[in-house]
Amino acid sequence: MKPIFAANWKMNGSLESINQLISSLLSQSLNSIAREVIIFPPSPYLLHTKKLLGNINWYVGGQNLSNFDQGAYTGEVAASMLRDLGCGYVLVGHSERRHVIGESCELVAQKFHKAIQHKLIPILCIGETLDERNAKETYNVIDKQLRSVLDLPTGAEILSKGIVAYEPVWAIGTGIAAKPNDVANLHGYIRTWLLENKVEDVPIIYGGSVTPDNAHELLLKPEINGVLVGGASLDANKFMEILKCIN
Ligand code: 13P
Repeated sequence: MKPIFAANWKMNGSLESINQLISSLLSQSLNSIAREVIIFPPSPYLLHTKKLLGNINWYVGGQNLSNFDQGAYTGEVAASMLRDLGCGYVLVGHSERRHVIGESCELVAQKFHKAIQHKLIPILCIGETLDERNAKETYNVIDKQLRSVLDLPTGAEILSKGIVAYEPVWAIGTGIAAKPNDVANLHGYIRTWLLENKVEDVPIIYGGSVTPDNAHELLLKPEINGVLVGGASLDANKFMEILKCIN
């Protein structure tokens, strides 16, 4: 399993800043260790970003997709459109979509299914809020968020084609990353849950205040198969340092 380095740019950037960011990333060299690098730009910049990346083997992905195929759904982006623009991946159920936009577990599961139908690899984002953590609800939240996809018809098969990103909500954008040992334990729990439900070989990655300072220690843990980076991915030097922390 190649380590995954995903960059979620969220709703940030402009043509100019993306030109600078990508040219700065491409001007630096990486060793030949195999990595899966996936950039998630805002959807209006997907094609532009894909073109800037040229023929280096990095992927682009959508930050969101519609649960519908096409039609009168103003403002939505269809899975087929993401494919058309060259996306290989899509984020599903990011905490900002669950908690700011109000997406339910059921809607997230439908989106996950839609991504699979269109041969996009969905990254299912799961994780507890601070209140849920304080109330010792973490495992229940994880169970519920995973189960919504598992409960789809042929759910185990569908889930096994995706990636799980554990992103505790209290760690996102706060500068307070979860401790590597705690992440490893949580990922171990998720792995066991998946295996008990006949879901195998799914990478489990971590997101939440990943920086060049903590990426190395996180990625040393065998339970952590990659990172999903927000803020630090908007800074070429920081993202490059994160990419270089495996050797
Ligand atoms: P930060 O790295 O800014 O905490 O964001 C994490 C995230 O939400 C990635 O999807």
